[in-house]
Amino acid sequence: MLSPDIESAMNTQIAAELYSSHLYLAISAYCESEGLPGFASWFRIQSDEEREHALKFLRHVVDRGGRVMLTGMDAPESDFGSPQGAFEQALAHEMNVTMMIDGLYGMAVQHGDYASQVFLQWFVTEQVEEERTAGEIVQTLKNLGNDPASLLILDRELGARQP
Ligand SMILES: [Fe+2]
Ligand SMILES: [Fe+2]
Repeated sequence: MLSPDIESAMNTQIAAELYSSHLYLAISAYCESEGLPGFASWFRIQSDEEREHALKFLRHVVDRGGRVMLTGMDAPESDFGSPQGAFEQALAHEMNVTMMIDGLYGMAVQHGDYASQVFLQWFVTEQVEEERTAGEIVQTLKNLGNDPASLLILDRELGARQP
């Protein structure tokens, strides 16, 4: 059984992962409107990945005899200012998600919930990757400045991402 504390925090995490998916879908649409189909495709794939994260948590809660409680969601923005602005927002969001995962892990340790610790380890590793990837792309965009030709090359690179 999941302790009520962990059940509640896992439900909060499901909401956060679904919000991530929603945010990245909004960023994808924004990039599409800005004439950057590669950026749009990258964020669309990322949005799908976040939905998978939510489903992993959902499965864990159900498997452990907890109750899944979905909530409403805040609306993401529709204008992210620039591709760099979009990736900066994604990075800030992932840093927040990392803090939430770390908090959950700490709670699982406190409660002696070994099954949740093992489950969460995948997410601890995943967050390292998420922050590194978003951080690298933010840095690349900073280095490019506002050079449209370089932006097009990066758009092609990001568009090559496979699901
Ligand atoms: Fe996630
Ligand atoms: Fe990922």
